[in-house]
Amino acid sequence: MGKVIAIANQKGGVGKTTTTINLGAALAKEQKRTLLIDLDEQANATIGIGIAREHVKISSYDVLALDGNIEKSIYNTKDSFLDIIPSSNKLANIEETLYGRENKEQMLMNKVEKIKEEYDYILLDCPPSLGIIIDNALFVSDSVIIPVECEFFAYDALTQMVNKINQVQKAKKKINKSLTIEGVLLTKLDNKNIFGYKIIDKVKELFPTKTFNTIINRSSHLQEAPMHGKTVIDFAYNSRGSKEYRELAKEIITNREVN
Ligand SMILES: Nc1ncnc2c1ncn2[C@@H]1O[C@H](COP(=O)(O)OP(=O)(O)O)[C@@H](O)[C@H]1O
Ligand SMILES: [Mg+2]
Repeated sequence: MGKVIAIANQKGGVGKTTTTINLGAALAKEQKRTLLIDLDEQANATIGIGIAREHVKISSYDVLALDGNIEKSIYNTKDSFLDIIPSSNKLANIEETLYGRENKEQMLMNKVEKIKEEYDYILLDCPPSLGIIIDNALFVSDSVIIPVECEFFAYDALTQMVNKINQVQKAKKKINKSLTIEGVLLTKLDNKNIFGYKIIDKVKELFPTKTFNTIINRSSHLQEAPMHGKTVIDFAYNSRGSKEYRELAKEIITNREVN
C-alpha cells in the first residue's frame, strides 16, 4: 500500500519542489514505485521533470475538481518507476470551483485511495499557501515533510505549518485517519555561513526526534537540473545534491521499515 507524503510549508522558496522531484527520483532509483502529484499552479515540478505545460491535457486540477478517472491524469516519465500527475494554471481558481461543495477537503483523498495500491510512495508538491489545496493534501497524506530553509524567517512559517497540521489531525480523527510529521528537512544550507548552523540547532531543539539526519546543502546542480527537465539524480548523479537526496530517500525507507 502506497504511503502518501505531503511536502509542505506555506513559505515559498524553501525547497518543496526541489525536494519533491529529487526525493521522488531517488526513491525510484531504489526501485520504489513513486508518483508525484504537482499541486502548485506554477507547475515547477511538472516542468522540472520534463513535461511541457502544453502537453498537459488532464491535470491535478481535474483530479481535485471533476468526477473523472484519476488514472487518466497520470503521466509516465523516462524512469519507469516514476510517474507524475502534472499541474495546470487552472488550479488558481480551485477555491472558487470547490466553494460550497460538501467535504471539499476530501476531494483528493477520494481519488488517490483508488490508486494507492499501485505505488510505494506518493509525494505531493504543495503550493505556498494554507488554503483548500493544502487541506486536500493533508487529508490524503499519511505524513508530512516540512522543508525549512536554514535562515531566520523560516522559523515563523514552521510554527504556522505545525498549527495547520494539528488542525487537520483533529479533523481526520473523526474519520479514523491519522497524519504524522515524517520529518523537518533542513534545506539550502550555506556551509560558509555560521548562522545557518544556529537555525539547525534551534530546529533540532524544537523537533528532537523529527529532524531528518540528512541536511540539504546549497548546490548549483540542484538549481540547474530543472532547466534541463531533469532531476539531479539524472543530471549529475555523483553531485552533492544528488547524494543528499539519495540519503534522504534511504532515511525515509528505513523509517518506514522500523515503524
Ligand atoms: N539545496 C539547494 N541549493 C541551491 N538552490 C536550491 C536548493 N533548493 C532549492 N533551490 C532553489 O531555490 C529556489 C526555490 O526552490 P523550490 O524548490 O522551488 O522551493 P519551493 O517549492 O518551496 O517554492 C529554486 O530556484 C531552487 O532551484
Ligand atoms: Mg514549489
